[in-house]
Amino acid sequence: MTEYTTTNSGAPVASDDHSQSVGADGVIPLHDHYLIEKLAQFNREKVPERIVHAKGGGAFGTLEITDDVSAFTRAALFQPGVTTEALARFSTVAGEQGSPDTWRDPRGFALKFYTTEGNYDLVGNNTPVFFIRDGIKFPDFIHSQKRLPGSHLRNNDMQWDFWSLSPESAHQVTWLMGDRGLPASWRHMDGFGSHTYQWINAAGERFWVKYHFKTNQGIEILSQEAANTIAGEDADFHIRDLGEAIDRGDFPSWTLSVQIMPYAEAATYRFNPFDLTKVWPHADYPLHRVGTLTLNRNPANYFAEIEQATFAPSNFVPGIAASPDKMLLARIFSYADAHRYRVGTNHAQLPVNAPHAAEVNSYSKDGAARYAYNSPAVPVYAPNSVGGPAASPDAAGDSAGWQNDGELQRTAATLHAEDDDFGQAGTLVREVLDDAARERLANNIAGHVGQVTIPEIKARALQYWRNVDGSLADRVEALLAEGDIDPEVAPPNAAGLNRESQADVSLKV
Ligand code: HEM
Repeated sequence: MTEYTTTNSGAPVASDDHSQSVGADGVIPLHDHYLIEKLAQFNREKVPERIVHAKGGGAFGTLEITDDVSAFTRAALFQPGVTTEALARFSTVAGEQGSPDTWRDPRGFALKFYTTEGNYDLVGNNTPVFFIRDGIKFPDFIHSQKRLPGSHLRNNDMQWDFWSLSPESAHQVTWLMGDRGLPASWRHMDGFGSHTYQWINAAGERFWVKYHFKTNQGIEILSQEAANTIAGEDADFHIRDLGEAIDRGDFPSWTLSVQIMPYAEAATYRFNPFDLTKVWPHADYPLHRVGTLTLNRNPANYFAEIEQATFAPSNFVPGIAASPDKMLLARIFSYADAHRYRVGTNHAQLPVNAPHAAEVNSYSKDGAARYAYNSPAVPVYAPNSVGGPAASPDAAGDSAGWQNDGELQRTAATLHAEDDDFGQAGTLVREVLDDAARERLANNIAGHVGQVTIPEIKARALQYWRNVDGSLADRVEALLAEGDIDPEVAPPNAAGLNRESQADVSLKV
């Protein structure tokens, strides 16, 4: 039987080619509601793009727990042998929806786990640190990376002005200007939870943890020149790569490990363990393997399952909670707020965002585009004496806290011995990068700083690098003086050349 086109309400339509008109060349009546439905629906096809991380792609898969970390968390998804459905979305940060996948940028590494205790979201990046340590600076930071209000152009002056006036950015900018700023594909990069989180075990003991997803495909990167060429030839290079790999059954996977710090050690650790601009050196806190994340299913509909996917650092499950990281605390507000604006009040009811392995027993009701609702027998208020759902004593995601006592204040207190802004960035340059990687870093910095037009900002940017490492700054200054910046200083595995993976710099810091 022929399937007829219908209106959105399911009634057959008379034509997909011709509007109704009064005579062949006459006016179109307002009651051609099918024409109006088509045009009106079309005008509403977009939702606002994400204010950051607008360009991205993703896929579904599983997290399988291979090792026993039950001594540290009682979260059901991390118990030995458990397999949990997962969604991953990868992205660039600063570009808009159509921007090239191969612009130098950190990459988003957002995960949603559909656990039996509700959805757990881990919204991280491909770097273990970030540019700032207080969420109050986030809007200004992002403004400096996006576009000038007049010309609507991105601008090196404001990027380096912000970075050089925010010395806590040095560690992340060193990552960004180095090889990791241009991953060859999303499959060939690591992911990090970045923040310190809290785990709580069955006995109620608390631990501080950092998540590491190490790519099993090996780290691969692009040279600046390859990235530039690809940006022109295929702006969707990374979306295409992931989709094609999954289509051919070459499922990408990452080994999940965690660093674990006993609760009491945070107070005396040499770095502030809640400072997002710092890593915990692996010599201090080694990796414990947890399991494997594998992506094996492409979305069937990009808009429904990726564009409307909402990942929120506030989505915790029992056994996992926040830490006093000020960035994390700001993000816990920010994302759910963005989702209510970007997708709508009831975004959590969409199939991609709703729990797949747990029930929703919420007293929230109504709102635009409400889809799911409780039976009329369930009361609409709590507490109640008529058998409605009651709060759980097990909801550690909310109640697990930390000791703190102090005046309300605004500060970046440095109570830990090595809490400076440049130390770990310098260690990364001197002890992790090899000579060739340092040369590429110097070239990238010189290429970028070389486009700064305001002398005062350029001078401050050079001092910033001198604070990171004197030899690196000497080399950058020499390159700038020579005007001899070579964007073709190719990494050993520039795209399409040599696909051998590099040593894992993140593990050595
Ligand atoms: C996306 C805010 C820091 C990773 C977003 C979005 C907002 C936001 C509003 C868009 C959400 C949406 O529309 O769905 C903030 C604020 C931050 C911050 C206020 C600082 C306080 C970070 C950090 C990381 C990060 C430190 C990584 C460690 C991401 C990722 C996405 C994102 C991966 C994209 C999520 C997706 O794929 O849908 N951020 N962000 N952000 N952010 Fe942040």
